[in-house]
Amino acid sequence: METFTIHGGRPLRGEVAVRGSKNAATKMMIASLLTDEPCVIENIPFSADTDITRELCEKIGSTVSFDDAHTCHIRTAAVKTSQVPELSRKNRIPILALGPLMHRKGFAEVPVLGGCPIGHRPINFHIDALNKMGATVRRREGSYYAEAHALYGADIELPYPSVGATENILLTAVRARGTTVVHNAAIEPEILNLVEMLREMGGEISLSEETRHLEIRGVERLRGVTARVIPDRNEIVSFAVAALGTQGDIFVAGAHAGHLTTFLRALTEIGASYEITSAGIRFFGTKPYRASHIETGPHPAFMTDWQQPFCVLLTQSSGVSTLHETVYEDRLAYIKDLQRMGADMSVSDECVSSSSCRFQNQTFNHSVRIHGPTILKGAEITMTDLRAGMAHIVAALIAEGESVISGIGHVDRGYEKIDERLRSLGADIERVER
Ligand code: EPU
Repeated sequence: METFTIHGGRPLRGEVAVRGSKNAATKMMIASLLTDEPCVIENIPFSADTDITRELCEKIGSTVSFDDAHTCHIRTAAVKTSQVPELSRKNRIPILALGPLMHRKGFAEVPVLGGCPIGHRPINFHIDALNKMGATVRRREGSYYAEAHALYGADIELPYPSVGATENILLTAVRARGTTVVHNAAIEPEILNLVEMLREMGGEISLSEETRHLEIRGVERLRGVTARVIPDRNEIVSFAVAALGTQGDIFVAGAHAGHLTTFLRALTEIGASYEITSAGIRFFGTKPYRASHIETGPHPAFMTDWQQPFCVLLTQSSGVSTLHETVYEDRLAYIKDLQRMGADMSVSDECVSSSSCRFQNQTFNHSVRIHGPTILKGAEITMTDLRAGMAHIVAALIAEGESVISGIGHVDRGYEKIDERLRSLGADIERVER
């Protein structure tokens, strides 16, 4: 078992280059299954999630190589098998392969989904959309089996702008017969990245970000492409918060401010500083910061994946801050670890902001009150999911004394060599084999 040993209190300083978004890269690898021609995906991150997706594609019949320049060469000249139910349930990518595989083989079978335990995470929107497009999807023991003689355009209203369901529809509708219209589509930058790649492959797609209206005119064939993965928004926020929490001063090379508007606004609110240049963003600040009120939501709102490290930063703010998590019902399990480290926080099932959310009048703890500033102390902690794991790391970097963090496979799934890169900024973090 590997753990991180962290001695906190050292300000992070220097420059770090942001990697490509794993939540875009993995979907782009799946998009390559839609053509038999070679695809090149630049700026691929070397995280465990891209390796898991590579294993999935190779099992299907793709030839995949990653080179040192972070370029992925991927080609699926022929689909060897469209049934891969025995693959590990380590992430939520396989369900997105159903459409591409049905287009190529008429049927497909993928494992039930894994991913972080942050709520119930149903896939009813995916299944309903595939059904509308002419597929029959059956749940088998440990897998989903889908088949379709042909897939057709459909009119689909998403009950919630789900990222995964929007991607699933895109990857299926792009080669379906006729036009698919999606109302209430997700418009995350990672979705736009996928849309851009599919357009370059010959897909006919229009998307209005203002109205969340997505229209996909199906085409018979798609061609090979060279596409580029956008910078990882979660990485940028993680590095930024770690620097601000330790009163450091870092430059994140390659960071794109346009994807981070609500995060940068939140930094201004708490009195932290940043400078945007064409090459990246500098983050710096002095504690204590000001209290703030954060509410997560679908893009362009404050991203649910940012709240965990940001809550740690709010323990270093004066006054009472609140966080209202409206995307996932169970994404605050890490708060108890921060409390053990000395944070003065309490969770509740009320909607803490003026607006109520889907979880109102239910028993989900989805709000937090944070009283600050507090001095955090090192502790022994076990990560239970990816983004919470980053909150643990940030807390340990800020805390006095030593922290030992286990369960680090969760952050390895989403971040490339996070320990080495934090060390290059002056953090005292070691990966220890136990
Ligand atoms: N939902 C349903 N039914 C569905 C699909 C979603 O009820 O069929 C609900 C979910 O339970 C959740 C909400 O809709 O309450 C949003 O889920 P969404 O489908 O948007 O999330 P996802 O596609 O499963 C992706 C990222 C998450 C990120 C969310 C929101 C990947 C692999 N995962 O998940 O990232 O938090 O979008 O932006 O892209 C992470 O990277 O650690 C991570 C969890």
